[in-house]
Amino acid sequence: MSTRLPWIIKYRPKKVAEVVDQDNAKKQFIPWIKAWIEGKKQEKKAALLYGPAGCGKTSLVEATAKEFGLELIEMNASDFRTREAIERIAKVAATKYSLFGFRSKIILLDEIDGLNAIADRGALSAVLDLIEATTHPIVLTANDPWDPKLRSLRDKCLLIAFRRLPKRAVILMLKRICESEKLICEYNALSLIADYAEGDLRSAINDLQNVASISKHITLEVTKPILARRDRQYTPFEALRSLFFSKYAWQAKKAVTSADIDYETMMLWIAENLPYQYTDPEDLWRAYEALARADVYLGRVKRTQNWDLLAYVFDLMGAGVALARRKTKFKWVKYSFPQKILLLAKTRGQREIRDAIAKVLAGALHISSIIAKREVLPFLRIIFNENPEYAARIALGLNLTESMIKFLTPKRYREVLRELAKLKKTA
Ligand SMILES: Nc1ncnc2c1ncn2[C@@H]1O[C@H](COP(=O)(O)OP(=O)(O)O)[C@@H](O)[C@H]1O
Ligand SMILES: [Mg+2]
Repeated sequence: MSTRLPWIIKYRPKKVAEVVDQDNAKKQFIPWIKAWIEGKKQEKKAALLYGPAGCGKTSLVEATAKEFGLELIEMNASDFRTREAIERIAKVAATKYSLFGFRSKIILLDEIDGLNAIADRGALSAVLDLIEATTHPIVLTANDPWDPKLRSLRDKCLLIAFRRLPKRAVILMLKRICESEKLICEYNALSLIADYAEGDLRSAINDLQNVASISKHITLEVTKPILARRDRQYTPFEALRSLFFSKYAWQAKKAVTSADIDYETMMLWIAENLPYQYTDPEDLWRAYEALARADVYLGRVKRTQNWDLLAYVFDLMGAGVALARRKTKFKWVKYSFPQKILLLAKTRGQREIRDAIAKVLAGALHISSIIAKREVLPFLRIIFNENPEYAARIALGLNLTESMIKFLTPKRYREVLRELAKLKKTA
């Protein structure tokens, strides 16, 4: 048995047809590449292939290059972290000729979301320039295309979605490898590997190779203990998908606990996307009920610092939500980023000013800033909107800044400032 070559490389698709599933992605990608080859004018000069890990994004690009005889210039995010690195590629991309005369190229910038929004900012903007200048197709790949740092890139790209591979596709591929490696396999074992991989064919193939390195008989017995040791981290999108897909309580719990975000944010993600996924009103009601209870427990954990309660939070937001689904048929929906977080980000400046005013009031009136915010600020706003002269006196007394005055009365703050200037002169 050959264990020298990793199987994920050995069994990489060599033709487009060997990329299993992903028909929709192929339907978009192949005509786009063909148009390039034929020299047609393209509306979008770059394509962004996105979807979960190990579902064939890189494979499709590589197989396409092979099949159509294109030269593939492939780089991973770790190779193009600087503007200089991108510009080196850009030189190649701008010329039509290669060493061997005319030959079309594909430029693949793999795992673009591996770039850091701040540290690698130069590289990100260089990619934009590259797309402007290129005479060859640029292909980018990412797990999460809604990452804010990719926003400006997204507009320039043809967006092509890859789906998580269905279990039967994973099993089919594993079976083919078993045949070719002359392994004797139990269906149950392959099925377990596929369950664990959750659509990630790369990890399924790696798992199979791990098991095979121990035994030529792939049985449930040898497979189980090997898989048990493995754990993966999810993006919020993957976590949601696997939560809503869960058939068993343990799967749901695993989904919410292995996301790479904190559980409070995870809760927001679930709350935001529940109504897209669950369409039956009773299912939705049960799920929100569970989520609300999870929130109550989380509140108690934070208040009492009793971390034992966290287990209930996970049970409720995991199994509670997943098993609430009785009537809704599973459908593939596009998940969205929690609006609450977006809204908070947008209003951060305003909230900071409001908090600053509350602090001033709290000090002057000997009350807490929460009470100041709730019970004094609204009246202050009315005064500032109705009576600029009186408002100016308050502003002077409390030593409010210009932005605070603007916050209190966006409409009449100029008048208040004028009155304030008068007051200061006479004082
Ligand atoms: N749709 C697929 N068809 C065939 N093989 C696949 C597919 N998806 C993944 N694989 C296998 O998994 C490995 C990793 O796939 P890759 O295309 O690199 O995934 P990613 O989507 O993360 O770019 C490949 O080498 C290939 O063996
Ligand atoms: Mg890849």
